[in-house]
Amino acid sequence: MNDMISKETKVWDNYWKRGELHSCISASDKENQKEVNDFWLRIYDEFPDGLTFLDIGTGNGLLPSLAVTCANEKEYGWEIHGVDLADINPVRDVPGSKELLDQINFQGRIAAEDLPFESEYFDVVTSQYAIEYSDISRSIVEISRVLKKGGSFCAVLHSYNSIVVSQNNDNANEAKYLLDSYIFANCRELLSRILSGKFSNTEIQAHVDQYVENLVQLSQSYVSQNDLNIIPIMQNSLMEILKLSQKYHPQQVLEMVDNARLRLKAQRELLLDLVGSALDEVKIENLLGELKGLGFEKIKAQEFSIGEKNVILGYYIQLQKQ
Ligand SMILES: C[S@@+](CC[C@H](N)C(=O)[O-])C[C@H]1O[C@@H](n2cnc3c(N)ncnc32)[C@H](O)[C@@H]1O
Repeated sequence: MNDMISKETKVWDNYWKRGELHSCISASDKENQKEVNDFWLRIYDEFPDGLTFLDIGTGNGLLPSLAVTCANEKEYGWEIHGVDLADINPVRDVPGSKELLDQINFQGRIAAEDLPFESEYFDVVTSQYAIEYSDISRSIVEISRVLKKGGSFCAVLHSYNSIVVSQNNDNANEAKYLLDSYIFANCRELLSRILSGKFSNTEIQAHVDQYVENLVQLSQSYVSQNDLNIIPIMQNSLMEILKLSQKYHPQQVLEMVDNARLRLKAQRELLLDLVGSALDEVKIENLLGELKGLGFEKIKAQEFSIGEKNVILGYYIQLQKQ
Protein backbone atom coordinates (compact mmCIF):
# COMPACT_ATOMS: atom_id res chain seq x y z
CA MET A 1 0.00 0.00 0.00
CA ASN A 2 2.72 2.49 1.03
CA ASP A 3 4.25 2.38 -2.46
CA MET A 4 0.93 3.70 -3.80
CA ILE A 5 1.03 6.85 -1.64
CA SER A 6 2.39 9.35 -4.14
CA LYS A 7 2.94 13.10 -3.99
CA GLU A 8 -0.54 13.47 -5.57
CA THR A 9 -2.11 11.37 -2.78
CA LYS A 10 -0.65 13.74 -0.19
CA VAL A 11 -2.03 16.71 -2.10
CA TRP A 12 -5.46 15.01 -2.04
CA ASP A 13 -5.02 14.35 1.75
CA ASN A 14 -4.70 18.10 2.25
CA TYR A 15 -7.47 18.95 -0.19
CA TRP A 16 -10.08 16.83 1.66
CA LYS A 17 -8.92 18.07 5.09
CA ARG A 18 -10.04 21.54 3.98
CA GLY A 19 -13.61 20.18 4.13
CA GLU A 20 -14.77 20.51 0.50
CA LEU A 21 -17.53 17.99 -0.24
CA HIS A 22 -16.37 17.51 -3.82
CA SER A 23 -13.74 18.53 -6.34
CA CYS A 24 -13.44 19.16 -10.10
CA ILE A 25 -16.62 21.19 -10.59
CA SER A 26 -15.74 24.68 -9.44
CA ALA A 27 -17.19 25.38 -5.98
CA SER A 28 -18.75 28.59 -7.33
CA ASP A 29 -20.56 26.64 -10.05
CA LYS A 30 -23.58 25.76 -7.90
CA GLU A 31 -25.93 25.33 -10.87
CA ASN A 32 -23.72 22.66 -12.49
CA GLN A 33 -23.22 20.92 -9.17
CA LYS A 34 -26.97 20.75 -8.61
CA GLU A 35 -27.45 19.16 -12.02
CA VAL A 36 -24.70 16.62 -11.28
CA ASN A 37 -26.31 15.80 -7.93
CA ASP A 38 -29.73 15.40 -9.60
CA PHE A 39 -28.17 13.09 -12.18
CA TRP A 40 -26.84 10.79 -9.42
CA LEU A 41 -30.08 11.01 -7.43
CA ARG A 42 -31.93 9.72 -10.50
CA ILE A 43 -29.48 6.79 -10.67
CA TYR A 44 -29.88 5.96 -6.96
CA ASP A 45 -33.62 6.21 -7.42
CA GLU A 46 -33.50 3.10 -9.67
CA PHE A 47 -32.35 0.80 -6.84
CA PRO A 48 -34.59 -1.06 -4.37
CA ASP A 49 -34.38 -1.45 -0.58
CA GLY A 50 -31.81 -3.58 1.26
CA LEU A 51 -28.76 -3.06 -1.02
CA THR A 52 -25.05 -2.57 -0.35
CA PHE A 53 -23.22 0.33 -2.04
CA LEU A 54 -19.54 1.17 -2.48
CA ASP A 55 -18.17 4.47 -3.79
CA ILE A 56 -14.52 4.35 -4.88
CA GLY A 57 -12.28 7.44 -4.70
CA THR A 58 -15.06 9.03 -2.69
CA GLY A 59 -13.17 12.09 -1.41
CA ASN A 60 -15.34 13.67 1.27
CA GLY A 61 -18.27 11.48 0.26
CA LEU A 62 -20.41 13.45 -2.17
CA LEU A 63 -21.86 10.33 -3.85
CA PRO A 64 -22.48 8.32 -0.65
CA SER A 65 -24.14 11.39 0.87
CA LEU A 66 -26.53 11.51 -2.11
CA ALA A 67 -27.20 7.77 -1.61
CA VAL A 68 -28.00 8.45 2.07
CA THR A 69 -30.36 11.28 1.08
CA CYS A 70 -32.16 8.95 -1.32
CA ALA A 71 -32.31 6.07 1.22
CA ASN A 72 -33.61 8.35 4.00
CA GLU A 73 -36.33 9.79 1.78
CA LYS A 74 -37.54 6.31 0.88
CA GLU A 75 -36.90 4.89 4.38
CA TYR A 76 -34.61 2.26 2.85
CA GLY A 77 -32.01 0.33 4.82
CA TRP A 78 -29.03 0.68 2.44
CA GLU A 79 -25.50 -0.14 3.66
CA ILE A 80 -23.26 2.54 2.18
CA HIS A 81 -19.44 2.54 2.01
CA GLY A 82 -16.95 5.08 0.67
CA VAL A 83 -13.20 4.47 0.22
CA ASP A 84 -10.32 6.60 -1.02
CA LEU A 85 -6.57 6.34 -1.34
CA ALA A 86 -6.35 9.71 0.40
CA ASP A 87 -6.40 9.81 4.20
CA ILE A 88 -10.03 10.91 4.37
CA ASN A 89 -12.16 11.60 7.46
CA PRO A 90 -15.32 13.32 6.13
CA VAL A 91 -17.25 13.21 9.42
CA ARG A 92 -14.47 15.25 11.05
CA ASP A 93 -13.60 17.48 8.11
CA VAL A 94 -16.87 18.48 6.40
CA PRO A 95 -18.63 21.18 8.40
CA GLY A 96 -22.34 20.83 9.04
CA SER A 97 -22.84 17.36 7.51
CA LYS A 98 -22.03 15.08 10.47
CA GLU A 99 -25.52 13.60 10.75
CA LEU A 100 -25.60 12.64 7.07
CA LEU A 101 -22.00 11.45 6.79
CA ASP A 102 -22.25 9.43 10.03
CA GLN A 103 -24.52 7.05 8.12
CA ILE A 104 -21.66 6.09 5.76
CA ASN A 105 -18.79 3.66 6.41
CA PHE A 106 -15.71 5.59 5.28
CA GLN A 107 -12.19 4.20 4.98
CA GLY A 108 -9.12 6.15 3.89
CA ARG A 109 -5.86 4.79 2.42
CA ILE A 110 -7.78 2.24 0.36
CA ALA A 111 -6.64 1.74 -3.22
CA ALA A 112 -9.18 0.95 -5.92
CA GLU A 113 -6.70 -1.70 -7.06
CA ASP A 114 -6.86 -3.54 -3.72
CA LEU A 115 -10.28 -3.39 -2.05
CA PRO A 116 -10.58 -4.75 1.51
CA PHE A 117 -13.98 -6.37 0.99
CA GLU A 118 -15.00 -9.96 0.51
CA SER A 119 -16.00 -11.13 -2.95
CA GLU A 120 -19.56 -10.49 -4.13
CA TYR A 121 -20.33 -8.16 -1.21
CA PHE A 122 -21.82 -5.18 -3.08
CA ASP A 123 -24.92 -4.63 -5.21
CA VAL A 124 -23.73 -1.30 -6.58
CA VAL A 125 -20.24 0.17 -7.08
CA THR A 126 -19.90 3.82 -8.12
CA SER A 127 -17.07 6.16 -8.99
CA GLN A 128 -17.11 9.82 -9.95
CA TYR A 129 -13.90 11.18 -11.46
CA ALA A 130 -11.87 8.63 -9.50
CA ILE A 131 -11.00 5.21 -10.98
CA GLU A 132 -9.30 6.91 -13.93
CA TYR A 133 -6.65 8.16 -11.47
CA SER A 134 -5.88 4.53 -10.56
CA ASP A 135 -4.42 1.63 -12.53
CA ILE A 136 -7.79 1.17 -14.18
CA SER A 137 -7.20 -2.38 -15.54
CA ARG A 138 -6.46 -3.62 -12.02
CA SER A 139 -9.27 -1.60 -10.42
CA ILE A 140 -11.99 -3.04 -12.65
CA VAL A 141 -10.88 -6.59 -11.77
CA GLU A 142 -11.40 -5.64 -8.10
CA ILE A 143 -14.74 -4.01 -8.86
CA SER A 144 -15.85 -7.17 -10.64
CA ARG A 145 -14.69 -9.27 -7.66
CA VAL A 146 -16.57 -7.29 -4.98
CA LEU A 147 -19.78 -7.00 -7.03
CA LYS A 148 -22.53 -9.59 -6.72
CA LYS A 149 -23.82 -11.25 -9.90
CA GLY A 150 -26.42 -8.90 -11.32
CA GLY A 151 -24.75 -5.97 -9.50
CA SER A 152 -24.24 -2.57 -11.15
CA PHE A 153 -21.13 -0.54 -11.82
CA CYS A 154 -21.84 3.16 -12.50
CA ALA A 155 -19.08 5.67 -13.18
CA VAL A 156 -18.58 9.22 -14.40
CA LEU A 157 -15.13 9.54 -15.95
CA HIS A 158 -13.04 12.52 -17.00
CA SER A 159 -13.10 12.67 -20.78
CA TYR A 160 -10.78 14.52 -23.16
CA ASN A 161 -13.65 16.71 -24.49
CA SER A 162 -15.20 17.77 -21.17
CA ILE A 163 -15.42 21.34 -19.98
CA VAL A 164 -14.10 20.20 -16.58
CA VAL A 165 -10.87 19.06 -18.22
CA SER A 166 -10.48 22.12 -20.45
CA GLN A 167 -11.21 24.58 -17.62
CA ASN A 168 -8.81 22.84 -15.28
CA ASN A 169 -6.18 22.73 -18.02
CA ASP A 170 -6.56 26.52 -18.37
CA ASN A 171 -6.27 26.85 -14.58
CA ALA A 172 -3.09 24.73 -14.56
CA ASN A 173 -1.60 27.03 -17.24
CA GLU A 174 -2.50 30.13 -15.21
CA ALA A 175 -0.91 28.56 -12.13
CA LYS A 176 2.29 27.78 -14.08
CA TYR A 177 2.42 31.36 -15.40
CA LEU A 178 2.19 32.71 -11.83
CA LEU A 179 4.73 30.24 -10.43
CA ASP A 180 7.20 31.16 -13.19
CA SER A 181 6.63 34.89 -12.67
CA TYR A 182 8.63 37.25 -10.46
CA ILE A 183 5.57 38.23 -8.38
CA PHE A 184 6.20 36.13 -5.26
CA ALA A 185 9.85 37.25 -5.08
CA ASN A 186 8.65 40.79 -5.74
CA CYS A 187 6.18 40.60 -2.85
CA ARG A 188 8.83 39.16 -0.51
CA GLU A 189 11.29 41.88 -1.48
CA LEU A 190 8.75 44.63 -0.86
CA LEU A 191 7.78 43.18 2.52
CA SER A 192 11.45 42.90 3.54
CA ARG A 193 11.91 46.57 2.68
CA ILE A 194 8.82 47.61 4.67
CA LEU A 195 9.79 45.44 7.61
CA SER A 196 13.45 46.56 7.68
CA GLY A 197 12.42 50.08 8.75
CA LYS A 198 15.29 51.48 6.63
CA PHE A 199 13.14 53.25 4.05
CA SER A 200 11.22 56.53 4.30
CA ASN A 201 7.43 56.54 3.89
CA THR A 202 7.80 58.16 0.47
CA GLU A 203 10.25 55.50 -0.70
CA ILE A 204 7.99 52.72 0.62
CA GLN A 205 4.96 54.23 -1.11
CA ALA A 206 6.87 54.28 -4.40
CA HIS A 207 7.76 50.59 -3.96
CA VAL A 208 4.16 49.72 -3.06
CA ASP A 209 2.90 51.57 -6.16
CA GLN A 210 5.36 49.72 -8.35
CA TYR A 211 4.35 46.38 -6.78
CA VAL A 212 0.62 47.05 -7.32
CA GLU A 213 1.40 48.00 -10.92
CA ASN A 214 3.30 44.70 -11.33
CA LEU A 215 0.33 42.80 -9.87
CA VAL A 216 -2.06 44.45 -12.33
CA GLN A 217 0.34 43.80 -15.21
CA LEU A 218 0.28 40.10 -14.40
CA SER A 219 -3.20 39.60 -15.80
CA GLN A 220 -2.77 42.14 -18.59
CA SER A 221 0.26 40.39 -20.00
CA TYR A 222 -1.22 36.89 -19.78
CA VAL A 223 -1.65 35.26 -23.21
CA SER A 224 -5.36 34.59 -22.91
CA GLN A 225 -7.77 37.16 -21.47
CA ASN A 226 -10.81 34.85 -21.39
CA ASP A 227 -12.29 34.07 -17.99
CA LEU A 228 -9.13 34.30 -15.93
CA ASN A 229 -9.60 32.37 -12.72
CA ILE A 230 -6.41 31.65 -10.75
CA ILE A 231 -4.60 34.90 -11.58
CA PRO A 232 -7.26 37.26 -10.09
CA ILE A 233 -7.52 35.09 -6.95
CA MET A 234 -3.77 35.24 -6.45
CA GLN A 235 -3.73 39.00 -7.17
CA ASN A 236 -6.26 39.47 -4.34
CA SER A 237 -4.37 37.20 -1.94
CA LEU A 238 -1.10 39.03 -2.53
CA MET A 239 -2.81 42.40 -1.97
CA GLU A 240 -4.33 41.08 1.26
CA ILE A 241 -0.94 39.81 2.48
CA LEU A 242 0.50 43.26 1.89
CA LYS A 243 -2.22 44.81 4.09
CA LEU A 244 -1.52 42.25 6.82
CA SER A 245 2.07 43.49 7.08
CA GLN A 246 0.73 46.30 9.31
CA LYS A 247 -0.80 43.80 11.73
CA TYR A 248 1.45 40.75 11.94
CA HIS A 249 5.03 39.88 12.83
CA PRO A 250 7.37 40.24 9.79
CA GLN A 251 8.31 36.58 9.81
CA GLN A 252 4.63 35.54 9.77
CA VAL A 253 3.89 37.75 6.78
CA LEU A 254 6.83 36.37 4.81
CA GLU A 255 5.63 32.85 5.65
CA MET A 256 2.20 33.76 4.28
CA VAL A 257 3.80 34.62 0.92
CA ASP A 258 5.76 31.36 0.87
CA ASN A 259 2.66 29.38 1.85
CA ALA A 260 0.58 31.04 -0.86
CA ARG A 261 3.20 29.93 -3.41
CA LEU A 262 3.34 26.39 -2.01
CA ARG A 263 -0.47 26.08 -2.08
CA LEU A 264 -0.54 27.25 -5.68
CA LYS A 265 2.12 24.66 -6.56
CA ALA A 266 0.08 21.90 -4.87
CA GLN A 267 -3.09 23.08 -6.62
CA ARG A 268 -1.33 22.93 -9.99
CA GLU A 269 -0.27 19.34 -9.28
CA LEU A 270 -3.91 18.37 -8.63
CA LEU A 271 -5.01 20.11 -11.82
CA LEU A 272 -2.37 18.31 -13.88
CA ASP A 273 -3.38 15.02 -12.24
CA LEU A 274 -6.98 15.67 -13.31
CA VAL A 275 -6.08 16.60 -16.90
CA GLY A 276 -3.77 13.57 -17.16
CA SER A 277 -6.52 11.20 -16.00
CA ALA A 278 -8.94 12.14 -18.81
CA LEU A 279 -9.85 9.31 -21.19
CA ASP A 280 -10.02 9.74 -24.96
CA GLU A 281 -12.30 7.73 -27.27
CA VAL A 282 -9.75 4.92 -27.69
CA LYS A 283 -9.22 4.56 -23.94
CA ILE A 284 -12.98 4.52 -23.31
CA GLU A 285 -13.43 1.79 -25.94
CA ASN A 286 -10.56 -0.21 -24.41
CA LEU A 287 -12.09 0.14 -20.95
CA LEU A 288 -15.49 -1.05 -22.18
CA GLY A 289 -13.75 -3.97 -23.92
CA GLU A 290 -11.93 -4.95 -20.73
CA LEU A 291 -15.18 -4.74 -18.73
CA LYS A 292 -16.89 -6.97 -21.30
CA GLY A 293 -14.02 -9.43 -20.92
CA LEU A 294 -14.72 -9.49 -17.17
CA GLY A 295 -18.32 -10.46 -17.85
CA PHE A 296 -20.02 -7.05 -17.67
CA GLU A 297 -22.94 -6.20 -19.90
CA LYS A 298 -23.09 -2.58 -21.08
CA ILE A 299 -26.28 -0.79 -20.02
CA LYS A 300 -25.21 2.80 -20.81
CA ALA A 301 -22.08 4.34 -22.31
CA GLN A 302 -22.58 7.97 -23.26
CA GLU A 303 -21.32 11.50 -22.91
CA PHE A 304 -22.22 12.94 -19.53
CA SER A 305 -23.65 16.36 -20.35
CA ILE A 306 -25.96 18.77 -18.55
CA GLY A 307 -28.18 21.76 -19.21
CA GLU A 308 -29.93 22.99 -22.35
CA LYS A 309 -26.57 23.60 -23.98
CA ASN A 310 -25.46 20.01 -23.28
CA VAL A 311 -22.25 21.06 -21.57
CA ILE A 312 -20.03 17.95 -21.50
CA LEU A 313 -18.77 17.13 -18.00
CA GLY A 314 -17.32 13.71 -18.80
CA TYR A 315 -18.37 10.23 -19.87
CA TYR A 316 -20.92 8.02 -18.09
CA ILE A 317 -20.82 4.23 -18.07
CA GLN A 318 -23.27 1.85 -16.42
CA LEU A 319 -22.76 -1.89 -16.63
CA GLN A 320 -24.21 -5.00 -15.05
CA LYS A 321 -22.15 -7.97 -13.88
CA GLN A 322 -23.45 -11.19 -15.47
C1 LIG B 1 -11.23 14.14 -8.48
S1 LIG B 1 -11.32 13.35 -6.94
C2 LIG B 1 -12.98 12.78 -6.94
C3 LIG B 1 -13.58 12.67 -5.58
C4 LIG B 1 -15.06 12.36 -5.51
N1 LIG B 1 -15.41 11.13 -6.19
C5 LIG B 1 -15.89 13.50 -6.04
O1 LIG B 1 -16.52 13.34 -7.09
O2 LIG B 1 -15.90 14.56 -5.40
C6 LIG B 1 -10.36 11.90 -7.21
C7 LIG B 1 -10.18 11.04 -5.98
O3 LIG B 1 -9.61 9.79 -6.37
C8 LIG B 1 -8.73 9.39 -5.35
N2 LIG B 1 -7.80 8.39 -5.90
C9 LIG B 1 -6.74 8.61 -6.70
N3 LIG B 1 -6.13 7.44 -6.98
C10 LIG B 1 -6.82 6.48 -6.33
C11 LIG B 1 -6.68 5.07 -6.20
N4 LIG B 1 -5.69 4.41 -6.84
N5 LIG B 1 -7.55 4.39 -5.44
C12 LIG B 1 -8.56 5.04 -4.79
N6 LIG B 1 -8.74 6.38 -4.86
C13 LIG B 1 -7.89 7.09 -5.62
C14 LIG B 1 -8.06 10.69 -4.91
O4 LIG B 1 -7.47 10.56 -3.63
C15 LIG B 1 -9.23 11.64 -4.94
O5 LIG B 1 -9.87 11.71 -3.69
